[in-house]
Amino acid sequence: MAPEREALYAPDMVMEPAIQSLAVALSRKRSIVVLTGAGVSAESGIPTFRDALTGYWAKFDPQELATPEAFERNPEEVSRWYDERRMRCRDARPNPAHRALAQWEALQTARGGRFTLITQNVDRLHQAAGNRTIVELHGSLWVWRCTRCSREVEERGPAFTEFPPRCIDCGGPRRPGVVWFGEFLAPTVIRDAHAALADCDLFVSIGTSAVVHPAASFLAEARANGAYTLEINLDATPASATVDQALFGKAGEILPRLVGAIEAAGA
Ligand code: OAD
Repeated sequence: MAPEREALYAPDMVMEPAIQSLAVALSRKRSIVVLTGAGVSAESGIPTFRDALTGYWAKFDPQELATPEAFERNPEEVSRWYDERRMRCRDARPNPAHRALAQWEALQTARGGRFTLITQNVDRLHQAAGNRTIVELHGSLWVWRCTRCSREVEERGPAFTEFPPRCIDCGGPRRPGVVWFGEFLAPTVIRDAHAALADCDLFVSIGTSAVVHPAASFLAEARANGAYTLEINLDATPASATVDQALFGKAGEILPRLVGAIEAAGA
């Protein structure tokens, strides 16, 4: 199979005809998997990780903040950093990219198709926008887990007052319910992701640098299963050269147009 590969940058005159013809093909897909990364939440004011000037990892060392060893060494600093991120997400609202993805799922399921959203984001903005079938690959910033008794509590309230926050049952130190570098993903999460990938005929990678595994391997897995592959990103990534079609620009600008065209194509 030698798919025709195209990469298109944002100017409307170039992008619009491509979106229209793409939408016709996408509206016929039976089972869709969308993989999202931090770029989808960027327009909600949440920093990405690897963008050169604004990304978290441009300012902080992930080994000092996003590993179990870092938490053991410095639970105060690590929990404080994650709580600041939790507060930032508390103030954030879904942007047009999140809303378009919720609209796409509703459209696809109303037509009897499948739609699975696999996200690396821990902010739950996809849930807030209305997506229903979501696989949270890297956990959630809202759930905090006791490292002693494993009790989990959903934390929607104001910033913590002690760092690390303590378990109300056993007094043990609590950590955010996210997956850190060097940790395993939950088996149920892996199972759900692979099940969706095995069945999909369209795979869309949006706003992710496509470098962190296992998410980085999902594109190849979907393609090996025969899926058409599409990427939407501000810039080229390692995935761009391998997808059937790449659309470069802001997710919050491209997705509403694409999903609107898909809706019109299927009407
Ligand atoms: P990255 O920061 O690595 O990549 C964000 C991607 O979004 C980049 O490719 C940007 O070009 C793109 N981007 C930025 N703004 C955009 C916009 N408005 N529209 C479309 N694309 C945009 O974030 P992730 O790929 O999500 O894991 O990172 C993957 C994992 O690495 C994260 O879940 C996190 C991180 O370390 C852990 O913390 C374990």
